Amino acid sequence: LPARRTTSARKDGVIVVIKLSGSLFFSDHFDPVMKTLAEAAARKRPSTRLVLVCGGGSTARKYIEAARNVGVDGASLDEIGIEVSRLNAIVTADALGGLALREIPKDLAGIAEAVENLDKKRIVVTGGLHPGQSTNAVGALVAEKLGAREFVNATDVEGVFDRDPRRFSNAKLLHSVTVAQLEKILKRESMSPGAYDLMDLVALKLIERSKIKTTIVKCDAPTLRAVLRGKAIGTKIVFS
Ligand code: UTP
Repeated sequence: LPARRTTSARKDGVIVVIKLSGSLFFSDHFDPVMKTLAEAAARKRPSTRLVLVCGGGSTARKYIEAARNVGVDGASLDEIGIEVSRLNAIVTADALGGLALREIPKDLAGIAEAVENLDKKRIVVTGGLHPGQSTNAVGALVAEKLGAREFVNATDVEGVFDRDPRRFSNAKLLHSVTVAQLEKILKRESMSPGAYDLMDLVALKLIERSKIKTTIVKCDAPTLRAVLRGKAIGTKIVFS
């Protein structure tokens, strides 16, 4: 049996959840990405509503480091990261002007309600929700809760590589990856300091349990435009 949906937001049109890499906000990609998302949200057919989950990026890591250096506990460090991701969410909502809600929901129910009540505005922007996870897990949770058409994890790399592309020039982009393969890669990567961070295991488990259609792509305008038009790009997660 299909899972019961807790929102009726899918009735007219599709919902796409996009996690925006924290690296976006201080890059040249920010403005073109905003324009691309605005175009997609304004499209009539299919009528598309977007939920954008903003990462905290290096700004979050900076603040977390400052707090860690004075002995702040892990849960509070996570809360600091969440606040920074919400700041990026505010900037994103402002960049999207009339298309996005300016209010940043702080929990899953708030996100569902905001999406349900979208009318002229087409985009809900959010950041982190609670400690112990990353904004990738937020993206997966939101996609699960809303029965989204897909979850697009827009990162600072083109997709999943067989090894860290920032350290190995011969790393190969994988066009698809099984949950088991990705789990192995994530466990290996998370052991090396400064390793690239595709998604956390919490997110992967959620994607697996609800078979959420997920792709990992580069966070730039041409790539997001292609993904939103249904083109196969980046790395798709497959369920064996
Ligand atoms: P991010 O998800 O942004 O981490 O959250 P990230 O790996 O830096 O992702 P990018 O690079 O922006 O894409 C920043 C920090 O905020 C906390 C975690 O500590 C995370 O490392 N956080 C975020 C939470 O505790 N809960 C959340 O729901 C989201």
